[in-house]
Amino acid sequence: MGNDYIPLRIAGVGYSVPETVITNEDLTKLYETSDEWIYTRTGIKERRVVSGNETALDLGFDAAKKAIEKAGISVNDIDCIIAAASVPPQLYPTLACTMQAMLGIEKTIPAFDLTAACTGLIYALQVARGFIGAGIYKTILIVAADNNSKITNWEDRGTSILFGDGAGAMVVTASEDGIDDILSIKISANGSIGQMIQTNMPSKCCPLVKQADTVGDGLIHMNGKEVYKFAVSTVPSYVEECIEASGMASDEIDYLIPHQANQRIIEAIQNRLKYSDEKVISNIKYYGNTSAASIPIALVEGVEQGKIKLGSTAVLCGFGAGMTWGGAVVRLREGIC
Ligand code: UT7
Repeated sequence: MGNDYIPLRIAGVGYSVPETVITNEDLTKLYETSDEWIYTRTGIKERRVVSGNETALDLGFDAAKKAIEKAGISVNDIDCIIAAASVPPQLYPTLACTMQAMLGIEKTIPAFDLTAACTGLIYALQVARGFIGAGIYKTILIVAADNNSKITNWEDRGTSILFGDGAGAMVVTASEDGIDDILSIKISANGSIGQMIQTNMPSKCCPLVKQADTVGDGLIHMNGKEVYKFAVSTVPSYVEECIEASGMASDEIDYLIPHQANQRIIEAIQNRLKYSDEKVISNIKYYGNTSAASIPIALVEGVEQGKIKLGSTAVLCGFGAGMTWGGAVVRLREGIC
């Protein structure tokens, strides 16, 4: 951005996960697998899933309320809602519009969903930065909420071991002290390899015309090996580029808070940055891959558990369906969560 843009402040962050825990042992009731196989390949021991009438909306609402409280704002201060949702309970009304109503926001502020799968939080942050930087909006609520478990094929042991449900939320505002909490941010996509992770919607053509040869089942289909290769070949060098763009040296940054997709992918990024374990935030063991929510969940839980001290800096990175990927170097001010 140019020199005359308005800097952004990360004012509040919150998260929410469902109560119900599905362990690796539980999955052995569904297909032939073992805790040992899953844990050694992914670092995952358990994940949380919604049950009954609970959806990503409930999780998103809970996370949003926490982020709003931490930001010390009222819901009426919010002038735009961006939901990073790839598995919303409804395509429309969008998760963002329903969130506006659930929060009791009476002003007709804009609200929209943005789909960038597991990179959604970083995409939303970049969009919010553009709005705030240009002076269009002052206070934006980002909600990253997904219920992957509802579109997981629970007969497919290659994908259903990985995903979990959760939500994260972030309130970002125009920075009043002139300090920008985003030191660098980059988002990217390559649609030509997009078929690596697909969810094809069930649909029918008009009954008066020829029907399509194949009909989507609405479930996640993934070529795990290809996604793994893509992630380890693309993300570590991308993270280095983000750090370079921030003007900071890699060892000056306090934490790496990566998207939680696979512990081995996290370690590939860690090894590239030569970071010690204390600098790398990983909670994949307990939540699996919660899509766009994974970064804010790892951030807030890291603070709660004393792994992250605020008044610090962190490099965030995400990747996922699209294929999309993104990274940011951010300032984590005291009191944000
Ligand atoms: O946000 C992006 C999200 N996606 C990712 O990050 C995915 C990245 N990829 C991965 O994490 C890994 O590819 C997986 C963990 C999904 C799979 O590990 P893999 O080492 O690539 O296994 P594979 O799919 O190549 O399967 C190897 C073998 C196969 O058996 P055969 O054909 O060699 O006899 C599978 O049938 O392991 C078998 N297998 C399993 N065995 C026990 C696949 N899933 C399981 C399972 N338990 N859950």
